[in-house]
Order: sequence, then structure tokens, then C-alpha cells
Amino acid sequence: MVNETTSKHKRMSFDLVLFGGTGDLTWRKLMPALFQAFRHGKLPPGGRILAVAREPRSDSDYRAWLQQRFVEVEPAKQPTEEEFERFAALLHYRRMDLSQPGDYASLKAWLDERNSDTVVMYLATAPHLFPVVCAQLGAAGMNGPQVRVVLEKPLGHDLPSAKEINCVVAGAFAERQALRIDHYLGKPSVQNLSALRFGNALFEPLWRRESISNIQITLAEALGVGSRGDFYDRIGALRDMVQNHALQLLTMIAMEPPPTNDADAIRDEKLKVLKSLKPFTPGAVARDVVRGQYKAGTVEGKPVPGYLEETRVPADSMTETFVALRTEVQNWRWAGVPFYLRTGKRLAAQHAQIVVNFRPVPHPIFPGSARANKLVIKLQPDDGLQLHLLAAKGSGQGELLSPVFLDLDFDKAFAAERVGAYERLLMDAIAGRLNLFVRSDEQEQAWRWVEPVLHAWGHDPQPPRPYAAGTWGPPAASAMVARDGCVWEEEQ
Ligand code: BG6
Repeated sequence: MVNETTSKHKRMSFDLVLFGGTGDLTWRKLMPALFQAFRHGKLPPGGRILAVAREPRSDSDYRAWLQQRFVEVEPAKQPTEEEFERFAALLHYRRMDLSQPGDYASLKAWLDERNSDTVVMYLATAPHLFPVVCAQLGAAGMNGPQVRVVLEKPLGHDLPSAKEINCVVAGAFAERQALRIDHYLGKPSVQNLSALRFGNALFEPLWRRESISNIQITLAEALGVGSRGDFYDRIGALRDMVQNHALQLLTMIAMEPPPTNDADAIRDEKLKVLKSLKPFTPGAVARDVVRGQYKAGTVEGKPVPGYLEETRVPADSMTETFVALRTEVQNWRWAGVPFYLRTGKRLAAQHAQIVVNFRPVPHPIFPGSARANKLVIKLQPDDGLQLHLLAAKGSGQGELLSPVFLDLDFDKAFAAERVGAYERLLMDAIAGRLNLFVRSDEQEQAWRWVEPVLHAWGHDPQPPRPYAAGTWGPPAASAMVARDGCVWEEEQ
């Protein structure tokens, strides 16, 4: 199955340095993604992967440790003995104390020996180390034009901290060298948002306020916080999912067609959307944002504890595990159209989707034809499109219309070619394709927009609204959309 010799890529030497080389992200996501790229013949053949961490280990110890970790990844992504052996030939390990300039000097010497065409520094460490590592890489001269640095979220916890990180990064690297990851942008389904809108002429004339009544973006998780309680409790759903993933999806739905498919052309348009979002006043936060926290309940038939009973969560935590909000994009295309965003842990289903609700016909002549069309863009676990229409059954019931839908399943249509988000993003980082990475001004604008919400919650003594695990969140989320005469998709 390993296909590295038939790689479609021209030979390009690269070094990928993974800071945080023994961390969860590395073995759960990055190494399996790199292995998949290797297996699919997508990893340029002349490469080295260097894992960096604090503890001393030899290359062979690291390889043996990683092979053990692979047993825990999903079976389809596990290498055979023979595949692992060939993949492991790319793997190296280096012990580093990230505060020690001397350790960077010896890393530089290791890289210089090879002088690869491309060097990618992937920061899969705790975020407080980003400024330290970037500054040290710059000071040691590991910031030449062939170097790119990849930064994982969370990038800051508010606007000032995000600016601080961006400022240190900018001191060492040019903007085109700094790749901020939002793994949602690497999902094939999210790629399809661009394809749907800008590769097809069909929807564009309808993609505006005259035809669309509201848009709903739902990122629902059935899982709870698991063992990440201490991390999650400092973050909450707004910072974890809305400031990044949900807003990125909103920008892709609402942006104007970019003049080209270049990274900056796309990012300029996304930034305009972020700047057009209706700013939150304290009154708007109270009216248009619902925060919730899960209590004990039943998920997939099993009883599960509430958030406050999870390990490493303080018993009096005010952290939200659910957010629903209403916003508007204040421009000619979208004026007055509500955009509803909703995300939460321990919800009734594990799914992500965008529902574009069209306006009803202006003058209904068929009885029972009040239902409007809608386009459901399914992001996960299934990846597809459903266009809901009304049609005559032709069963002798006069003019009665029934809802039907056109159903397109991308997983089935393109099964063999689907590439996971991290695989895609890692290959883009190596190849220097920036389209799917977030520019610093986008990221800061997203923080600027959520700031008033964080501020209002910081001063609100009311705890988040409770909801039972396994439901769709607090009833206030339904009341919020009902004020506009709307309902969430699952309540239709
Ligand atoms: C991460 C969040 O960014 O995205 C997690 O930190 C969340 O809390 C995850 O579970 C969801 O990603 P996916 O790809 O499983 O939808």
C-alpha cells in the first residue's frame, strides 16, 4: 500500500520539526496524518521529521514509543509492521530545553547539515511557549525564507494576548511564513463550501438577502470534556469553537467571491466579513447570546455526569459548554439576515452542519406549500449536500405538495480521494500553500468581535443556563431564534 516511490510530487527536501513531539496532538493527530500522507504517496520523498521534546531519548526509542501509540489510533490509520518500518526511517528525535539558546544552536547545526529546501517548525506545544520558541528561532537565525512556522490554537485567550503572540511571531517571521491552523479549514467538507459557491454558477444569484431568510451554523458534539477538564475550564465554548471554527465557517458562507483563488485574495474577503459583523453591545449580549453548561443526562442511551462533576473541573465553575448566538453581516448582500451560530458539548448528536433557509414563495397557489426550500450543507460525520424542495406526489391527492430532497453524499462520490484535515494542512504547510491558514488580521478581528461577549460574561454573576446532557442546549436558545420567527433545524 505504501506508495512513496510513485509520489506525484517532485523531489523536494524538507525538514518538519515537531515541537511537542511526545504530546497528545503529535501522536493522536499529526503522526497519523503524516503516516497517511506517506502511505498515499503525498509526502515529498526527500524529507525528515524531527520530534522535539524535553526528555532524553534515542531515535530508536522514539520510534518504538510511537509505534506503540499507533495501536490507539483508528484501525484504518494504523500502519502494518512493514509500513511503519519504512515510515520510521524518516523519524528522528531530539531532546531540547526550549528556554536554552544553546539547544537552538545545535538544532540549527542539525538543519544546516542538510540545508533542506523547506523547513517547517510545527508548534504543537502549550501556547504559552509560542512566543519563547518563535523568539529563540529568530535569534538563532532559523527564520530564513525557507522556514515556515505553524501555530496551533488556542492563539491567545483574548485580543491583547493574541496581539502579543502575533507581535513576537512578527518579530521573527514574515506574515507569509506564519501559518495559523484552524483544522476546520482542512476538512474536505469545508473545502466544498468554496467549491459550491465559486465553482458553480447555480447558487450565486440566490446567495443574498432577497432569497435567504436565515443561516444556521451548528457544531454539535455528543462528547463531554473528557480528561481535558482543567484545560477546557480556562477556555469555554466561545473561545474553543466560536472565535475560530464557527466564525471561519461563517466567513466562507458570507464572503464575496474573491478575484482569484490566492491565499490573500481569499483572506481579504474573509476579513471583510469579520469586519462587517454586527458589534455586540451589552444589551445585545443579553438578548442575542445564550451560554449554557451541561448537567447530568443521557447520551446515546448511557447516563453521563454533568460538567461540574467532570474530573479536574472546579465545582463552582461558570465556564460555558454551550453557546448559541445571533448576528448579522452588515453589508448590502446580507443586511437584516440573521446568522445563528451554535456549538456545545454533550448535545443530542455529534454533527456539524450549515442550513441555508430560503424565503418562501411570494404567492403560494398550492395548498400546504408554505414550506420554504433549504440547503443543508453537512460537514460531519457525513459530508454532503441536501437540497430540500417541494414536489407533487402525483398520488391523486389533488395539488398537495410534499417535501423531498436531492441528496449528494461526497463521502460516497469521492471515497478514495478523501484526505483528513491534518493530512491536508500538513502537506499545505510543507508546500507553502497558505489558502487554508488564518492570517493574523483575521484572527485578531475575530477576537475583537467576541471581546464584548467575554467582557459582559466576566461581569455577569448569573451562572450559564443549565441543559441536560443529550439535549440541544438550554431552551433559551430556541427562544432566541423564535423571536425572529425561526426554529432550529431539528425542531422543524
Ligand atoms: C477543537 C476543540 O478545536 O475542535 C475541541 O478544541 C473540539 O474541544 C474539536 O472537540 C472538534 O473538532 P472535530 O474535528 O472533532 O469536530
